[in-house]
Amino acid sequence: MKGILLAGGAGTRLHPATLAVSKQLMPVYDKPMVYYPLTVLMLAGIREILVISTPHDLPLFRRLLGDGSGWGLRITYAEQDRPRGIAHALVLAEEFLDGGPSALVLGDNLFHGAELEQRLAEGRAAAEGGNATVFAYRVSDPHRYGVVEFGADGRALSLEEKPSQPRSEWAVTGMYFYDGRAPRRAAALAPSPRGELEITDVNRGYLDEDALRVVRLGRGYAWLDTGTHDSLLEAGEFVRAIEKRTGEKIAAPEEVAFRKGLIDADQLRVLAKPLRNSGYGTYLEALIARLD
Ligand code: G1P
Repeated sequence: MKGILLAGGAGTRLHPATLAVSKQLMPVYDKPMVYYPLTVLMLAGIREILVISTPHDLPLFRRLLGDGSGWGLRITYAEQDRPRGIAHALVLAEEFLDGGPSALVLGDNLFHGAELEQRLAEGRAAAEGGNATVFAYRVSDPHRYGVVEFGADGRALSLEEKPSQPRSEWAVTGMYFYDGRAPRRAAALAPSPRGELEITDVNRGYLDEDALRVVRLGRGYAWLDTGTHDSLLEAGEFVRAIEKRTGEKIAAPEEVAFRKGLIDADQLRVLAKPLRNSGYGTYLEALIARLD
């Protein structure tokens, strides 16, 4: 399975902080935001990743992530000339995916939870078997998101994009698994009133065919938003609290690559050395000794 990481958009809600730098490159505590969704793809066992961003920001992503080989990945890039919607990322990725299944993650979404890897593996397996998977998370402000309504039997009944009167508190998160049909489905959509190809419309297509799994990430998971100054700061505070308490880092790609066996101890040492000054490098070096 291949992965798509969408890091487009103008980040207008974070202006002026994002006037010169892409939102997804802003730090969430101790690392760039894009490391969080990138490591989610890595945790799903994905090694081939297409990063999509604006013509202006793409060179910065290249500078940060390169071709991914240092982390055992193959990262390639595609430009989205203007915000055309999340579903448009699937259209851009059609050639890259070559008819195969995909995992799509938004560059500003932060997930954390002990069983995340398991949930991702299930989503991946379902996509390889012809079904799509989205994850739902209970929030206090569902009108800002795609919202899923559940029936009494727990099955998804409807999906709506940013409804003024949400039918539930369950927001659809920015992590999606699809079978090979997704790019064609996205290409067939008409743009929404905001002029974008809506991922909710892709998901509704799968729902209508009874080919959509909606998996609830309940208590014990964190799904954090980084769309406003407050939520960005709160996400950083969350990461800081957990990292300080446990001494472990959330979303360090070098660590995930090492734990997943994509790189060995010698390669990790090479990656760690230039990062020593910030403490990130010494953390990586310590991993080699303490890996359990
Ligand atoms: C997008 C999707 C929405 C989803 C959200 C998750 O919203 O359209 O369905 O709930 O991402 O972050 P947008 O970022 O385009 O406002």
